[in-house]
Amino acid sequence: MVQNGKPTVIITGASSGVGLYTAKAMANKGWHVVMACRNLEKAEAAAQSVGIPKDSYTVLHIDLGSLDSVRQFVNNFRSTGKSLDALLCNAAIYMPLIKEPLRSPEGYELTMTTNHLGHFLLCNLLLEDLKKSSYSDRRLVILGTVTHNPDELGGKIPPRPDLGDLEGFANGFKAPITMIDGKKFEPVKAYKDSKVCNVLTMRELHRRYHDSTGIVFSSLYPGCVAETPLFRNHYPLFQKIFPIFQKYITGGYVSQELSGERVASVIADPEYKQSGAYWSWGNRQKKDRKSFVQKVSPQARDDEKAEKLWDLSAKLVGLA
Ligand SMILES: NC(=O)c1ccc[n+]([C@@H]2O[C@H](COP(=O)([O-])OP(=O)(O)OC[C@H]3O[C@@H](n4cnc5c(N)ncnc54)[C@H](OP(=O)(O)O)[C@@H]3O)[C@@H](O)[C@H]2O)c1
Repeated sequence: MVQNGKPTVIITGASSGVGLYTAKAMANKGWHVVMACRNLEKAEAAAQSVGIPKDSYTVLHIDLGSLDSVRQFVNNFRSTGKSLDALLCNAAIYMPLIKEPLRSPEGYELTMTTNHLGHFLLCNLLLEDLKKSSYSDRRLVILGTVTHNPDELGGKIPPRPDLGDLEGFANGFKAPITMIDGKKFEPVKAYKDSKVCNVLTMRELHRRYHDSTGIVFSSLYPGCVAETPLFRNHYPLFQKIFPIFQKYITGGYVSQELSGERVASVIADPEYKQSGAYWSWGNRQKKDRKSFVQKVSPQARDDEKAEKLWDLSAKLVGLA
């Protein structure tokens, strides 16, 4: 049941960038936002800095790089007694300069764990809560990105994502394995691979559960939000030049505020009630540009891969 007249959305990684501005936009639409974050003080300060009213949000701890923490978060959320009416899987890490892989407490490579496996577990557990909600229009949205797709300009820059035959997952994904395809560690590719997994997960959720539950599953690329802290681990010069390049050369730049409004529309507006869709915007920096359903990359639309990824991910997170 929708409590206090407000539907509830959980947003992972709501302490900065796209997640924070989506939280603000959802609060403006009259929703209660559960900000699922790894740093509670930072999340609280961030909510206040963008003016989200105190009674419109709750901050709850999650570390998506730890599967135990994801499970604990679900328990903590359930003990709030709130219904769950929408879930946004937004948090991500991008660590282009590291030479050696970092590991989750389970021993899995950290970028893939945070961006894909943690969210995969979260989606599976919270599906039960979404099913129980009596809200008329329940949605589960996962952030995508242009770099998942070599058919687009932004996806052509090497290294390109390549899940191979998921050999790394099939062989347990622990040291010395670092990549989903079982090949040499490449941190930029790890990020791109994880975003392909995000789109495959959304499509598999749709295939498995849309007809039986009515829940809408979708994904989107809101544009290049070049000024978010996602690029905090890149060279300082890159952080300076990248927004300028995206604004004046590619035209792909969007502000954090606009990205948040776009994501919030996909979570809550009637025109985005299409399950299995991946939304994108033409000339992305203009506010009035219309959205459209975009074809995802060949890997991300591979149904056999989606099913295999599902089964192997379920095993790795302990659901199988
Ligand atoms: N920026 C872009 O151009 C762009 C374009 C397309 C798609 N995206 C997607 O948009 C999403 C958000 O990116 P962003 O640009 O807004 O980046 P961001 O500002 O760096 O935000 C990432 C969020 O994820 C959180 N996070 C990271 N690791 C976490 C963990 N282990 N557990 C819980 N939370 C964690 C961060 O928390 P802390 O505040 O504690 O670090 C932060 O709140 C990502 O999925 C990204 O792939 C971004």
